[in-house]
Amino acid sequence: MTRSVDLAIIGSGVVGSAYINQLKNLKGAIKFNVIYLARSSKEALYSKDYQPVDLSNYKTAKAEPILSLDDLVNYLKNANKPVILVDNTSNESIANYYPNFIKNGISIATPNKKAFSSNLKIWKEIWDSESQANSGIVYHESTVGAGLPIIGPLKDLVLTGDKIDKIEGIFSGTLSYIFNEFSTIEKNDIKFSDIVKKAKDLGYTEPDPRDDLNGLDVARKVTILARISGLEVESPTSFPVESLIPKQLESVESSAEFLEKLPEFDNEIQKIKDEAFNNQQVLRFIGEVDLKNNKASVGIGKYSFDHPFASLKGSDNVVSIKSERYPNPLIIQGAGAGAEVTAHGVLADTVKIAERIAN
Ligand SMILES: NC(=O)c1ccc[n+]([C@@H]2O[C@H](COP(=O)([O-])OP(=O)(O)OC[C@H]3O[C@@H](n4cnc5c(N)ncnc54)[C@H](OP(=O)(O)O)[C@@H]3O)[C@@H](O)[C@H]2O)c1
Ligand SMILES: *[C@@H]1O[C@H](CO)[C@@H](O)[C@H](O)[C@H]1NC(C)=O
Ligand SMILES: *[C@@H]1O[C@H](CO)[C@@H](O)[C@H](O)[C@H]1NC(C)=O
Repeated sequence: MTRSVDLAIIGSGVVGSAYINQLKNLKGAIKFNVIYLARSSKEALYSKDYQPVDLSNYKTAKAEPILSLDDLVNYLKNANKPVILVDNTSNESIANYYPNFIKNGISIATPNKKAFSSNLKIWKEIWDSESQANSGIVYHESTVGAGLPIIGPLKDLVLTGDKIDKIEGIFSGTLSYIFNEFSTIEKNDIKFSDIVKKAKDLGYTEPDPRDDLNGLDVARKVTILARISGLEVESPTSFPVESLIPKQLESVESSAEFLEKLPEFDNEIQKIKDEAFNNQQVLRFIGEVDLKNNKASVGIGKYSFDHPFASLKGSDNVVSIKSERYPNPLIIQGAGAGAEVTAHGVLADTVKIAERIAN
């Protein structure tokens, strides 16, 4: 008989929909039955007898209210087959609940950063539960760099005894775009505030661009990479994070008013850009884990014109991993955001879990 697993999918936004489309076209020998599909924070498709959800009309089919997290665990742990939960939300309560799923034998594939980058206690609980016999297993490749292979290769290095010296990278598609346009190896007169507005108009930023400019999303990714490398960062706010929001504009009410006032603060960052340019350097917004000095940080970095970070294009992410085995750093670069690449990362994780647990 064909091996199979059951899937429970929470969240069908942009990434979720892309995930479902890719799932329909999946190549490989294992069969996936979707037994629960929460298509929003209110409605879900499932049946008490675990009949597979029909993916051809999941957007319009008659739905039930979503199950509470307690009820969801009970429903999933009594399924006929091993279950993989796909958490495609950015919901923190669901993330905090991961240890309960795992202890009940339910595996998790997710792009949701919250569980891995909040308090160190939850991180430890997840991996402690995962290491017990009969627990679920966890893959989260898409929490850093979307579909780029960063977490898998980094874990392999650490597991096989390599010593990581330094991880350095550009982990925000939005801030990658802003700095790649603002600070170039050819002279330009582009103003910081103009490029922030342009990024917003192109739909590259969060609805309020301050949610990108505050550096917290990058800090969450740095937290995850630091912990994997053995630096037990307490939380994403427990190390220096440079915010690109001028102090005076932090408490401004609307994002419209913020964008209107941002030009008044162009001079400050322009000065840093000009100084760097005169030294043949560009500015990039980077996250860094320095394992030699046990330090993590997020902020503006300066890179000479011939450095790989200086020639980055569009909204690409890039990470450089320097270790005992790779004194010339291992460099991974490519699209680090977008529904298709994120969904592919989550689906590839789903398949890796299925290969280990399907029966
Ligand atoms: N987009 C990217 O390029 C990218 C890249 C890397 C990682 N990620 C990560 O991927 C995840 C998904 O991103 P997103 O932008 O799609 O997030 P999102 O906008 O929060 O969408 C999540 C979806 O989940 C649903 N949802 C939220 N809470 C739920 C609950 N309790 N039960 C059932 N459904 C619930 C939402 O439904 P409602 O509509 O009812 O709220 C929505 O459909 C996030 O963790 C994000 O950080 C995204
Ligand atoms: C996962 O989240 C993304 C981003 O919101 C969304 O586009 C996609 O449809 C979601 N996938 C599933 C299966 O819910
Ligand atoms: C997060 O998920 C929980 C459990 O499904 C739900 O009760 C809560 O309303 C969600 N929060 C948000 C902000 O969507």
